[in-house]
Amino acid sequence: MLIRRSSGIKSYEITDRDAFLKRREFMRAAAGLGIVGGLYSAGMVMSGKAHAGTRLPGVTKSAYTVNDPLTPLEAITSYNNYYEFGTDKDDPARQAGKLKTRPWQVKVEGEIKKPKVYDIDELLKLAPLEERVYRMRCVEGWSMVIPWVGFPLAELIKRVEPTGNAKFIEFVTLLDPAQMPGQGVRVLQWPYVEGLRMDEAMHPLTLLTLGLYGEALPNQNGAPVRVVVPWKYGFKSAKAIVKIRFTEQQPKTSWELAGPGEYGFYSNVNPTVDHPRWSQAKERRIEKGSVLDSLFDKKRDTLMFNGYGDQVAQLYAGMDLKKNF
Ligand code: MTE
Repeated sequence: MLIRRSSGIKSYEITDRDAFLKRREFMRAAAGLGIVGGLYSAGMVMSGKAHAGTRLPGVTKSAYTVNDPLTPLEAITSYNNYYEFGTDKDDPARQAGKLKTRPWQVKVEGEIKKPKVYDIDELLKLAPLEERVYRMRCVEGWSMVIPWVGFPLAELIKRVEPTGNAKFIEFVTLLDPAQMPGQGVRVLQWPYVEGLRMDEAMHPLTLLTLGLYGEALPNQNGAPVRVVVPWKYGFKSAKAIVKIRFTEQQPKTSWELAGPGEYGFYSNVNPTVDHPRWSQAKERRIEKGSVLDSLFDKKRDTLMFNGYGDQVAQLYAGMDLKKNF
């Protein structure tokens, strides 16, 4: 991941030269679009919370819930990775508020018997909404505990009836540089693409996510619909999904294309396999979310499969997780 160099930031957060240049390129493009002035003028800074959606009806609490203390909403909505809106942690909260999330459609296609275009409001009613408190571990070395709202992705998959050829599932984020200024910069290949193996996608923990803290998803967290895969690094959880495609071949994901030696297709949280540029043994649990506050966040051991090993380890039985990182 591309992380800004800043005094006081820990060594694993130091940007390499390439990333620094890409960031400069981003700022230049942003200036071209006339957004840099706005970015830094206090009057234009929008609070992420103001864009949190309406209360979601009929949400029940799920047994798939961890007991760790919740990360405050303020931190979840102000410390984000969402490169379509810039590479700094506070860019999405400042810029994603303008993204139009209605009307919104999700096209489900590929190796299925019943291809269908879902309107977002139809999707919201597809299955009972559950609140699930999941740990989220970013590949950069920080983590949060988030009360998501959604339903198992398997509910959608069952309805579209995959064919025998469906081995993988691909998630595609909206491509719209007019609304997503970060797409004017080639930090990643756009649109953002992620993927899972079919058994991972069908796993009951894999959540098609429509909200958090009981409300519709804030834009900076991937409104109106994203996926959340809690035993994998956060980048597997694609935001603002417009297409779900069932494929025979393993999808080429945006991060694999950007750094094949650094970001693997599986990307299961694994404290024994380091990122080439930093250790994955520990993580910083975000408490408040500002860069200053983050200096005081507590370090804790990272757990294999992010603590979800009992539920998911059997998916990888017999696989070499160092090779299939
Ligand atoms: N999805 C899209 N479309 N674009 C992104 O840049 N960033 C990923 C993931 N999904 C990203 C994305 C990364 S690196 C992480 S850690 C999580 O979103 C962050 O989710 P959050 O901002 O809701 O905490």
